[in-house]
Amino acid sequence: MADCEATTVETASELSVEARLWHPVAQVQDVGAVPVAVQLLERSVVLWRDRSTTIHAWADQCPHRGAKLSLGRVCDGQLECPYHGWKFDASGQCIQVPAMPEFVPPPSHRATVFEAQERYGLVWVRLALGGADAAEVPAFAAEHDDHLRKLNCGPYDVLTSAPRIVENFLDMAHFGFVHEGWLGSRQHTRVADYTVASTRTGLVATGCKAWQPQSNVHSTAPAEVEYRYEVTAPYSAVLSKVPDTNSTAVAGYRESIALFISPLTPQSSRVWFRLAVADFTSPDTHLQAFQHTIFLQDQPVLESQYPKRLPLQGHSELHTAADRASSAYRRFLKHSGVRFGVL
Ligand code: FES
Ligand SMILES: [Fe+2]
Repeated sequence: MADCEATTVETASELSVEARLWHPVAQVQDVGAVPVAVQLLERSVVLWRDRSTTIHAWADQCPHRGAKLSLGRVCDGQLECPYHGWKFDASGQCIQVPAMPEFVPPPSHRATVFEAQERYGLVWVRLALGGADAAEVPAFAAEHDDHLRKLNCGPYDVLTSAPRIVENFLDMAHFGFVHEGWLGSRQHTRVADYTVASTRTGLVATGCKAWQPQSNVHSTAPAEVEYRYEVTAPYSAVLSKVPDTNSTAVAGYRESIALFISPLTPQSSRVWFRLAVADFTSPDTHLQAFQHTIFLQDQPVLESQYPKRLPLQGHSELHTAADRASSAYRRFLKHSGVRFGVL
């Protein structure tokens, strides 16, 4: 047990790059009147809302005797530890020790507080202060497009690293096999040339084309679909796709899908998709069902990949020109200094 705890401390201190990134940890509607326990980068984190409904993210470990604060309760806008009832205000300061009613806790009696914010219907947390060159929450340009409706899909708990999931998202050569009859066909497996360029946050791949029997929830006929991929952070990516005009039941249908991943451990992840779709009438469940079907096709293959961490060193996996987006993603990760979920 002692060894295990020592390793955890060491791992957390090594995570300078990852700890300074914003990560999604929960859906905003799931954080209500009771504290919620989540995991991020092998750290236990408690989420709770104060009286003004602001969400707070703290280390899920009471500074008194280490009990999980997420087992406690929120009273009068304060978080109360389940063990001895110490109360903490929204800033993390302990303001009451019930065993010593006259004691005024000094400033050192504090919970460990992280940064938290709400974006895209998700709670985002950063474990370490960002500094002047701090990364922002990953961009999703479609969020600001009033002609696209936004909704989330997930979470999916996946037994693999976050980078394996991003790489799968960028991969077109698996469509005809994993998504046969949906996003691809064994009769159309060639990956046509496409262009990849590096960006500040990762890469952009343009001119990607795929022949798809059913490219989206409104498809009425097979179509060639034009894709654009963007890696917006080490563990986030966006795809935008526009099918042939006569292949959907909804005129002018287009969509943009963001992949947001919470890296729980180096080999396990929680995934959300944020959908931005040119459809304001279908029920949420109808739109989510399509994405659900596609991701459940991906998941067994993703979880079968070995090693679960994405190999960045040497030539342990083989590459072709069709994989140039994933190769560029691996180069970006290597350059970024990210270590969580890679080998
Ligand atoms: S462990 Fe939290 S109050 Fe004692
Ligand atoms: Fe897939």
